Amino acid sequence: MKSTVHIGIIGLGGRGMSLMEACILPRAEVKVAALCDTYEDRRQDAAARLEKAAGGSKPLLTGDYREVLEMKGLDAVLVSPGWTPHVDIACAAMRAGIYTAVEVGGAYSIEDCWRLVRTQEETGAQCMLMENCCFGRYELMVLNMVRQGLFGEIVHCQGGYRHDLRSEVAGGWENRHYRKDNYLLRNCENYPTHELGPIAQVLDINRGNRMLKLNSAASKAAGLHDYLAARKGNESPDARLRFAQGDVVTTIITCAGGETITLTLDTTLPRAYSRAFHVQGTRGMFSEDNKTIFLDGVHDKFEFNGRGLWGNADSYFEKYEHPVWTQYIKEGVQGGHDGMDWLEFTAFFDAVRSGSPVPIDIYDMAAWMSISVLSEESITLGGAPVAIPDFTNGKWLTRQDKFCLS
Ligand SMILES: NC(=O)c1ccc[n+]([C@@H]2O[C@H](COP(=O)([O-])OP(=O)(O)OC[C@H]3O[C@@H](n4cnc5c(N)ncnc54)[C@H](O)[C@@H]3O)[C@@H](O)[C@H]2O)c1
Repeated sequence: MKSTVHIGIIGLGGRGMSLMEACILPRAEVKVAALCDTYEDRRQDAAARLEKAAGGSKPLLTGDYREVLEMKGLDAVLVSPGWTPHVDIACAAMRAGIYTAVEVGGAYSIEDCWRLVRTQEETGAQCMLMENCCFGRYELMVLNMVRQGLFGEIVHCQGGYRHDLRSEVAGGWENRHYRKDNYLLRNCENYPTHELGPIAQVLDINRGNRMLKLNSAASKAAGLHDYLAARKGNESPDARLRFAQGDVVTTIITCAGGETITLTLDTTLPRAYSRAFHVQGTRGMFSEDNKTIFLDGVHDKFEFNGRGLWGNADSYFEKYEHPVWTQYIKEGVQGGHDGMDWLEFTAFFDAVRSGSPVPIDIYDMAAWMSISVLSEESITLGGAPVAIPDFTNGKWLTRQDKFCLS
């Protein structure tokens, strides 16, 4: 067991910086050895924060990630820039033999997904997609209930990335943020993994089951125009921009086991945040949006709001809390996003320290990220079915590798 992990952080925007402060610096066994961002001011800002939290640390500061990967004694790297450089950096890090944690995003080509798989298979290096939602409290309680058969045979799952990002997307160039270019020029399910990760766990994707095909459809793009026109005036250059990205993109995935999955991207209209996690089987269902669990033979189908059932999910924590969360609550929940970020980094650092495989592996990463580019293809073809490659090359039939925390 390694006593100290030396990590480099590549990409010091909102996410890289907050992860450093909330999930990396509080760990005595992890030392930040390098800080990398193409912007000099962000490197300096991160270095100042590091100095304050861990006085005496003198990390490498650079704008070139290759210098980070060449460092002697580096054990791990966090890849947290905008989406486009993820795969290049992840592959270079695997080639350098470093444990690699890659922030979430979708793929731009199927070739990139294969590149991830081939690089991992050739090098044997470990690379984890940092899908924090796989570590969420509700997601893991529901997984626990699925494993215990409470919902019977699972038939259908839903999830969404339903997050009003209008200010982030519209603020793009001024905020030096990558989303605006994507929304101007692409039309796809651009952020599939927050919702798909927990569903893939429930459905044993790449472990006895796999995603076979998808169909996607996009609504018109009206939200960003309305937002910009209302703030900057109808005649302003921003209000004249034409966004390619539909406001709501719906994707239906069919699995080898016969299950269907519906994913919804919904990021440019006013709305309350939700990942709309929904799991439904022959004996019951869970629905995140109204925090409801319905079990056949236990609940009455006409029991609804005002009569007690909707919103009952929290009462199941007592009996079905995932053991990892039971322990975590005892120790004290910390880190970002209701505590799930801390748990995912614990899982990553445990793997680095013990030299074990990471719990979300390269096949998961390739399959989940591929949904973006495949949905783009389906939308372009008027919603035509598009085959999802088997990135395991048949290994899904018999793979026993453990998934996340299940
Ligand atoms: N898991 C979550 O809950 C969550 C939340 C927010 C963001 N994210 C993910 O985190 C990543 C970063 O998002 P963000 O909001 O911080 O973006 P951001 O645009 O605020 O920051 C990205 C930073 O990366 C830097 N960068 C870009 N290319 C680089 C390169 N080649 N080398 C070094 N630095 C480079 C940019 O200069 C910028 O400072 C994205 O993948 C995003 O999807 C995940």
